[in-house]
Amino acid sequence: MSAETVSAAAVQEALRATGVKLPPEVLEPYVQGYFADRQRYLDIIALHPPPLYVLQTRILEQRCRQFREAFRKVLPEAAFYFAVKSNNYPEVSRIVLENGFGLDVSSGSELQMALYLQARDIIFSGPGKTGEELRQAALNADRTMVLMDSFHELDRLQDAASSVGRQVRAGIRVAIDPTGLWRKFGISLDDLPAFRQKALSCDCIDLQGIQFHSSWNLGPERQVGFIEKLGRALSAMPADFLHNLRFIDIGGGYWPSQGEWMQAAGTPAGMVRRAMDAPVNSAFAHYWNPAQPLEVFAERLAAAIKSHIFPVTDCRICLEPGRWICNDSMQLLLSVVDIKAADLAITDAGTNAVGWERFEVDYFPVLNLSRPGMLETPCTLFGSLCTPHDVWGYSYWGTGLAEGDILLIPMQGAYTYSLRQDFIKPLPRVVTV
Ligand SMILES: Cc1ncc(COP(=O)(O)O)c(C=O)c1O
Repeated sequence: MSAETVSAAAVQEALRATGVKLPPEVLEPYVQGYFADRQRYLDIIALHPPPLYVLQTRILEQRCRQFREAFRKVLPEAAFYFAVKSNNYPEVSRIVLENGFGLDVSSGSELQMALYLQARDIIFSGPGKTGEELRQAALNADRTMVLMDSFHELDRLQDAASSVGRQVRAGIRVAIDPTGLWRKFGISLDDLPAFRQKALSCDCIDLQGIQFHSSWNLGPERQVGFIEKLGRALSAMPADFLHNLRFIDIGGGYWPSQGEWMQAAGTPAGMVRRAMDAPVNSAFAHYWNPAQPLEVFAERLAAAIKSHIFPVTDCRICLEPGRWICNDSMQLLLSVVDIKAADLAITDAGTNAVGWERFEVDYFPVLNLSRPGMLETPCTLFGSLCTPHDVWGYSYWGTGLAEGDILLIPMQGAYTYSLRQDFIKPLPRVVTV
């Protein structure tokens, strides 16, 4: 539907799409679980004043193990690369490296960090790599596989590799959808034969693989659909190309199994109301997009690969998870600075700690660790930035709220720390436990 053709009926329909309520039986075990660990968090605060990001090594290690086990069970040769962009705190990368992952980097600075951490297996993907970034990748070609994004990048990688006298292992990203915003990434599947032909004329490039990625998958359907398409496109490729293909990288995009938790503003109805400047969010209205367990992703993706890829080419499957690995491993700890009304409080940190107005659309329970209790109370919790959009939530869990109380906002490990902004308030420090 184009912008001009949005009808009143479509708006009416969107207003009816209020979404599924987040069931208490999904939410409350999480709240209980974090309250059960309350003393552990309060002990950290006793040593390190808030605000803090708390990185929990044990959770990160457990997620690495579970991810590897789920996919190795169905794809024994699979290789795993952590998408550094999802959380670029170096200790996160160091821990995932120790737990059998390589690193997926998307910039020169992420590459430098991976090299500093002595990662031996790095993939460098992403659009618009600069000449200097390609040169750095070529200089470290023994440890770095470049996933090219365009025909032009093939030329530039050839030049960069030739200028430093190296042979570079490379793959090409293919677009999952050659229309709309996602055409930004990679080349069209239709252009694969021409790309391969051109790569044959580049003496410093060893084209070994293909990558695709789609984001934000609550279930495996979209990835499965693209694997079918890819299989069809590959079956039309020359036999020697298929014989020499070493890997297919199926990207990341696995949603954590608790699903997506939203404020009303995150639902279609809420988006329309918000656009019309109507009141949207309220204390008890939490919504839910359920997600499939990781094991379902693993089984369905492996089945699709066995049906559509392996009959054509027997190559290694690589995966690049980010969010699924780090989401639950980092929590935010804040303190209450000012209670301006029974239903309005201000905290010491601002949402510059997560870099975007996340909590206007995403719901995460805010737990008062100082007064624990399985009771959700309406109260707009603001950060201390000079903007009204600096909101943590519209309620807290606990038996009351007072100045100095310690609040926990769980599951802030993905696309928050990496997006933090040096804006007005100092950034929280990270404590690793
Ligand atoms: C190429 C690529 N791979 C992997 C990822 C990681 O995705 P996720 O964090 O959703 O698993 C991203 C995220 O944008 C990406 O662009």
